Amino acid sequence: MRNSFEAYQTIYEQSKNNPEQFWSEIAQQFLWKQPWKETVTFDFSLGENQWFIGGKTNITENIFSKIEDKSKIAFYLEPNDVKPEKSVISYGALERKVNQFANALRKKGIGKGDRVCIYLPMKIEAVIAVLACAKIGAVHTIVFAGFSANALADRINDAAAKCIITAQELVRGEKKVPLKKMVDEAISGTSILFSVVLDLEKNHDTSVEEFDFQSFYQNEAEECATEWMDSEDPLFILYTSGSTGKPKGVVHHCGGYMVYTAYTFKNVFQYQSDDVFWCTADIGWITGHSYLIYGPLLNHATSILFEGIPTYPNPGRFWEIVDKYQVTHFYTAPTAIRSLMTFGDAIPQSYGLNSLKVLGTVGEPINKEAYDWYATIIGKQNCPIVDTWWQTETGGILISNMAGIEPSRATYAGLPLPGIFPILLNEKGEEITDPNQEGYLCFSYPWPSMIRTTYGSHERCIQTYFSHFKGYYFSGDAAKKDENGLFRIIGRVDDVINVSGHRFGTAEIENAMNKHERVFESAVVGYPHPLKGQGIVAFVIVNDLEDQSLIESIRSTVQTEIGAIAKPDLIILTDSLPKTRSGKIMRRILRKIAEGETTHFGDTSTLLEPTIVMQLVAAFQSKHIN
Ligand code: WT7
Repeated sequence: MRNSFEAYQTIYEQSKNNPEQFWSEIAQQFLWKQPWKETVTFDFSLGENQWFIGGKTNITENIFSKIEDKSKIAFYLEPNDVKPEKSVISYGALERKVNQFANALRKKGIGKGDRVCIYLPMKIEAVIAVLACAKIGAVHTIVFAGFSANALADRINDAAAKCIITAQELVRGEKKVPLKKMVDEAISGTSILFSVVLDLEKNHDTSVEEFDFQSFYQNEAEECATEWMDSEDPLFILYTSGSTGKPKGVVHHCGGYMVYTAYTFKNVFQYQSDDVFWCTADIGWITGHSYLIYGPLLNHATSILFEGIPTYPNPGRFWEIVDKYQVTHFYTAPTAIRSLMTFGDAIPQSYGLNSLKVLGTVGEPINKEAYDWYATIIGKQNCPIVDTWWQTETGGILISNMAGIEPSRATYAGLPLPGIFPILLNEKGEEITDPNQEGYLCFSYPWPSMIRTTYGSHERCIQTYFSHFKGYYFSGDAAKKDENGLFRIIGRVDDVINVSGHRFGTAEIENAMNKHERVFESAVVGYPHPLKGQGIVAFVIVNDLEDQSLIESIRSTVQTEIGAIAKPDLIILTDSLPKTRSGKIMRRILRKIAEGETTHFGDTSTLLEPTIVMQLVAAFQSKHIN
């Protein structure tokens, strides 16, 4: 879909009148070993949706066998440390390495349906490992390399992964993380049978067989027989946080995920074949899966794979990379924009940035200041901004203006993509039709890359997404629509907090803190944070309020249990929490305190001990200012 808003409107109407035909026509552009019999079936009361049923395909065939010029660059590989030269990998070279790695995995007994855990830095080996799994039908489950050994172990156990692919070390900026050491801690007693380690340094006995990444696959054949997958076979599991303490394994299936990520990449970004696309997300998150790996590769795009961070060796690094590779499409998170803004305009202004055509944002609502800065200082008022709303569960972008095609409005994600039917509901489950009214963001019809299940418990999938409003998928977000139907996302309405675009369940962080031997009880809520969007504040019951050293030690417990990214920004030690007579923590009050409220707390008559509210207000205010 190119060119005009009228074209969008026509296509949207067509998709609404006949979604099956709409998706069927798109899916026909892909390579299928066997055509599908039925385009879609779904029953939201059972939390079910299936696409291109009976069809057989493989996502890697759609990447590699459909490309005419195999010498086309798939990725520019930009390492952590600045190097003047450019390192590249072509589609042909990537395919050969994927095949070799796939052969090596097969030899070790990995095949269709086996789960493979990937815990790697932002290096090409991660892409090779992911695609090798897809080639042989193994189900990859990438764990973000910022998660701790304990968090990694939880995910390995839940997925019952057979092997893990990792690196000796991860380097980001000036920080070095001993990934292999963490893996050793995580895998003992799990289902892991062997590990493949990039730059393996063998220095001690380990519980499982280990292979050095290069030696594992370098002598393998460069051809490999494709495992033809049912459209509804799983492609990957990706863990994400929810309202409950335990992260859920979101499962995406082969056919639908392929069709949807390819379609949305092409249309939202309006990518053309000579463009250079850069998505700064980590492969450990869904954005990395869909718009760094699969979406761009399915469109035979040239992308940047950047190992480092935006501020190393200086806060001009992103802009230097844009100029170096003449990046045309730049896709990042509001938190990165806000943080780079704080270093001033002179830094980006000292770069050309003339190659840029389209800017994108994802992960959290973008505030007006950050949007304007992005548009003016980075885009020079010359680049449309696509504010893309989606979720791990949606697999791909659902609501976003398409670059340069539809009207865009600062801080509004925009219109739904063709084939996507959002609806705003009130508490009672009735549709909100008046403009500018907040409601729960739900969907009445599936799309090809919609979550299929939560790994190990379909019941959990039904409960989480399909039980709040009968007959609808509920996103967990509140949103409103303007007079033109453009959506503005307000944010999560469940116990999920969004810190720098990373998702955490409050219960998940509380569980972690409660493991600290001196913590009796804790309650976590989000609070508005100028850079991170939301910060984490924890109210923690301990027996010695004077012992300030506890704060650091509680933070380090969270680091051990989940990872440094989940450490609370503020910890407030207290001897009590606002509870009802029946012992339930009134989180509503804590949220208000965290929003900076000092006087109006609504009805507090059911509180067992009302004085605690003002104590916590005082404690929060004094901490927050400091
Ligand atoms: C939650 C999903 C989708 C990839 C990154 C996050 C929030 C996401 C936007 C946006 C406002 C956004 C929502 C959503 N979110 N994109 N453009 N504007 N909010 O994936 O970790 O699954 O988190 O991120 O609250 O529910 P995720």
